Amino acid sequence: MKKVIPSAGRTVRTRRVSRRFVLATSLSFAGLSLLPNGLKRNARASGFKPSPPTQPFIEELPVPPIAKPVTPRTFNPFPARALPADVIHYEITAIEARHSFHSQLPLNSIWGYDGITPGPTIVAKANTNVLVRFNNALPQDDPVQIGLPINAIHRHGGFQAPEDDGYPGNFFPTGASRDYLFLHPNEDSNLWYHDHSLDITAENVYRGLAGGYLIFDDLDSLEGEMDTRPNAFRLPGRMVGDTRVYDIALVFQDRQFDANGFLVYDSFDHNGFIGDKFLVNGKIQPFCNVEPRKYRLRFTNGSNARQYEFILKDGRTTKPFDYVIGTDDRLFETPLRDVESFRIASSERVQTVVDFSEYAGKEIMVVNRLAQKEGRKPDGVVDPGTPILKFIVGKTPVADPSQVPTTLRPVPDSERPANILKKGVKIRRQFEFGRSGGAWVVNNQLYDENRVDAKPVEDEFEIWTLKAGGGWEHPIHIHLTNFFIISRNGKPPAPIETGWKDVVVVGGSRGEVEILIKFSGYTGRYVLHCHTVEHEDARMMANFEIQPKRRA
Ligand code: C2O
Ligand code: CU
Ligand code: CU
Repeated sequence: MKKVIPSAGRTVRTRRVSRRFVLATSLSFAGLSLLPNGLKRNARASGFKPSPPTQPFIEELPVPPIAKPVTPRTFNPFPARALPADVIHYEITAIEARHSFHSQLPLNSIWGYDGITPGPTIVAKANTNVLVRFNNALPQDDPVQIGLPINAIHRHGGFQAPEDDGYPGNFFPTGASRDYLFLHPNEDSNLWYHDHSLDITAENVYRGLAGGYLIFDDLDSLEGEMDTRPNAFRLPGRMVGDTRVYDIALVFQDRQFDANGFLVYDSFDHNGFIGDKFLVNGKIQPFCNVEPRKYRLRFTNGSNARQYEFILKDGRTTKPFDYVIGTDDRLFETPLRDVESFRIASSERVQTVVDFSEYAGKEIMVVNRLAQKEGRKPDGVVDPGTPILKFIVGKTPVADPSQVPTTLRPVPDSERPANILKKGVKIRRQFEFGRSGGAWVVNNQLYDENRVDAKPVEDEFEIWTLKAGGGWEHPIHIHLTNFFIISRNGKPPAPIETGWKDVVVVGGSRGEVEILIKFSGYTGRYVLHCHTVEHEDARMMANFEIQPKRRA
């Protein structure tokens, strides 16, 4: 019998979790590498030998399947909550499975949603309601010892009620399920979902628990380039049967393998995991066959701690990204043209349109030119960098009905930073991300589930200063909303940082930012945290609780 945790569910803790929690928070913070019985790990506390060599570009880029709706009848028991009408149901199960990262490595044990990593992509429409039942069928006694079999699913970038947000304390154990309700009132479009369990997110995501979630509306539509409605964007992409073509989500992750080709992870390194193998959609350095035409390429940094700086290379020459059309969840008001490179930190997304039409018969590489050896920050730009993904462009010319409109999503006047700032913003807050005694803190405090660190009022604009010390860079993520960066180090942000964001890097060479932020639509408790997930797990997280609107 499955146990369903109702949406207002209380924290579930298993014995094993509490033991692990003690382990993570006390022993490792004290810098000890004591391994209690039964917790022997593949990972070692003092760095790794290089992963075995693998030949690049012999594996084809996988595209995760689109999740199929199920009839609610298949749910047992039926969701124990009041649902709006016309809910589309999905059911996704976290299980252990075998996965090939590369044909020259042995099959590895991963944890994946529906047994694959990345998990199935949920494709939804604006103004529809989706309920996803996530089942936890992860093994209790896992010989690999990376991750813990608890789940809290967070739809990153999503606009959802506190009980559907994957609040870190609301994790559920093996054998249990939880229903997440997602309403799609607006055009937020480019999301992903991943485990968010308290203290163990880094390992669980590393083990494979992440997937894509896309929302289309009447403008950025599922019909895409084939849409005949006059206002439709007709960006590259369309459905062919059950698959989306010319619109590819690319999830970049780094991993480390032992001499025998098995995944390793260092649970005692809270600086942030850096691996020496580069995966795209779960394969090491894959290739992808494309046609000589425009593609929408959605870059997601799904790594724990690594940042990337991407360029496109045609042999030795750099080819600019023809368009950058959006960052994080949203599309830009005006696409950027001919972008040479962009930097992307954990969970940041950059949507591009790349035109291969002049490269028929050629190969275009996606190259990471940012070196990084530790979780602190990137070491800097290197030349030539590491090619991670190879596009092999076909020779046969094809029709390309897609376009990139000059205007995508205009920012409403009521949200435009210049207008808001002119009127004056009264509430300011500051969050400083730092290190204290080997643990990670926000405003000098470790995350405490029972402490509320900020109480913003619904619908009121605030200005937040986000900064960090000690030369560390932290990608800061704030749940529920998007925000605008109004300044970086006192200056206007670079063009690529002028759109709606849900993650922003601060600290180190990136300095500090001021953001304009507002929470609407829901009240209650959410988190903000560093998305270097090892920092998040080591408590670089804070609660904020949105207060109901003041009545006039
Ligand atoms: Cu992608 Cu709170 O996380
Ligand atoms: Cu989030
Ligand atoms: Cu951090």
